[in-house]
Amino acid sequence: MSFDLVIAVDGPAASGKGTVASRLARHYGLPHLDTGLLYRAVGVGAMKQHGAIEEATAERVAAHITQAHLSEQALMTRAAGELASQVAVYPGVRAALLKFQQDFAAKKGGAVLDGRDIGTVIAPHAPAKLFVTASPEVRAERRWKQLSGLGEGVSLEEVLADIRKRDERDSGRDAAPLLQGADAALLDTSQLTIEAAFREACRLVEQARGSIKS
Ligand code: C5P
Repeated sequence: MSFDLVIAVDGPAASGKGTVASRLARHYGLPHLDTGLLYRAVGVGAMKQHGAIEEATAERVAAHITQAHLSEQALMTRAAGELASQVAVYPGVRAALLKFQQDFAAKKGGAVLDGRDIGTVIAPHAPAKLFVTASPEVRAERRWKQLSGLGEGVSLEEVLADIRKRDERDSGRDAAPLLQGADAALLDTSQLTIEAAFREACRLVEQARGSIKS
């Protein structure tokens, strides 16, 4: 019997989870969904419609999100990340985005999804779950380089403060808080190159698959 290979990759902002997830997807020939983009699209869309973040508007926007909304360059900005984490606390927004994510996870053959609650809420039966993390300082430096590359004039200290605030909000919220599930393998990328992190991720996925077959 063969299993669909669903790989759940969770972790805090700029931990390397997106890079690891996209490399795993390429390696296993699976589609990849960066679920942070869904929340970013809702945050940006709700702000456009209402001029402020407010629950009912965010829920309405979330109910109409499609794949086509996820490729806008504006979703990658610092402001979009902040708006995403504000709308992500609303249970109605999370509920409205659930089906999109679960349909993606149910693709024939499997899929790779990265986010905050993939292994705990979206795909609790995923055969392979990783929790990717790194120290706040390392994550801030990565995010700062990424934002500077996009032309955003922001200091490293400001990015570190953003990261700490976002960690606190994502971990402290009632609805699907960011946490390492008991069945998720920990991958700390603080001291790892992208290549080394990818190799270790493959090893952990293979280990998880092996434990299913045996
Ligand atoms: O991963 P990214 O930084 O793009 O996510 C932006 C924000 O979206 C996160 O800080 C978090 O609040 C929210 N998010 C979430 N659940 C997910 C993915 C993202 O709550 N599965």
